[in-house]
Amino acid sequence: MREKEKREHDMKTGWMIWFCAVSLILGLTGNGLAAHGEKPPDKKAILLVGFGTTVPEAQKALDNMEALTRKAFPETEVRWAYTSGVIRAKLAKEGKKLDSPETAMAKLMDEKFTHVAVLPLHTIPGREYHDLQHNVQLFAQMAGGFRTILVARPLLSSHEDMERVAKAMTAHIPKERKSQDAVLLMGHGSEHHPADAVYMAMNQIFQDLDPNVFVGTVEGHPSLEELLPKLEARKARKIYLMPFMAVAGDHARNDMAGNEPDSWKSILTGKGIACETILKGTAEYPEVAEVWLDHLRAVWSHF
Ligand code: CO
Repeated sequence: MREKEKREHDMKTGWMIWFCAVSLILGLTGNGLAAHGEKPPDKKAILLVGFGTTVPEAQKALDNMEALTRKAFPETEVRWAYTSGVIRAKLAKEGKKLDSPETAMAKLMDEKFTHVAVLPLHTIPGREYHDLQHNVQLFAQMAGGFRTILVARPLLSSHEDMERVAKAMTAHIPKERKSQDAVLLMGHGSEHHPADAVYMAMNQIFQDLDPNVFVGTVEGHPSLEELLPKLEARKARKIYLMPFMAVAGDHARNDMAGNEPDSWKSILTGKGIACETILKGTAEYPEVAEVWLDHLRAVWSHF
C-alpha cells in the first residue's frame, strides 16, 4: 500500500516537472515571438482612389495627381484604385488591370504594409466618399492587418478649402474672357446626400470673387434649369463651360460639351449664348491638386 502511494507521488512530481519545463519553454518561445513578430518595420503606402476614366485625354488629370504625389512623397509606394467597375472592366479589355479599392487594400495587407494613406479624388464628402470611408474602416478593424489606415478628406472639406479652390479656378479662367462673359462650372452633384449643398456654397463663393461665375451640377443642385434664369438675367452673350470634377471625363465631354440636344452646350447655344468649352479636370490645376495633397499630408502626419 505504502509502495503504491509513493509511486503515485513520484508520478505526480514527474508530471509537475514536465509541466513546468514545457511552460517555461513555451513562455520563452512566446516572448521570443513577441519580440520578433509583433512589430515589423514600418512599410508605408499611398492609395490614390479615383472613379477612373477610359478617355485617354482625361487620364492626364490622374497622371498629374500621381506625379505630384510621388514628388511630395518620394520613395513611398503609390498605387491606384478605381471605384467604377464599368471603367475597370473596359480597361481590362485593353489589357490595363486596375483594382477596386477593396482589392487594392487586400493586396497591401497581404504584402504586410503597416501604414496606408488613402487619398480619394472626390470633390465633396458625398455618398461615394462615405462608402469608401466605411470600407476602409472595416479594413482597419481586421486582426493582424494594418497598424493604421486612414482616408484623407475630399477636396472641399472646409471653408478654407472652398476659398482656395475658388481662387485657383478663377485664376485659370481663359485670359481672353471679358468680364461680361459668364463662366459656368459643371460639378457632379449628389442628389440624395446633404453634402450636395457644398455646390450651392461654392456658387456663392465664386460669385463673391466674380459675379459672372456660376457653379451648377449634373446630378444635384444647382441644376442648369435652376441657373438659367440667373444666367439670362446677366444678359451674357458668351459663356465659358468648365468641368468642376477631378477628371474631364464622360460628364464633361458629353453632358457639358457634347453635341447632343440635352448637353449644357446645346441648351445654352439654343438660348443664343455662344459657348466656349474647356476640357480640363480640376486635378490638372496645380493649386487645386495642392489642396488634395495637403489633405494627404494631414493624414500622413499621424503615421
Ligand atoms: Co456620374
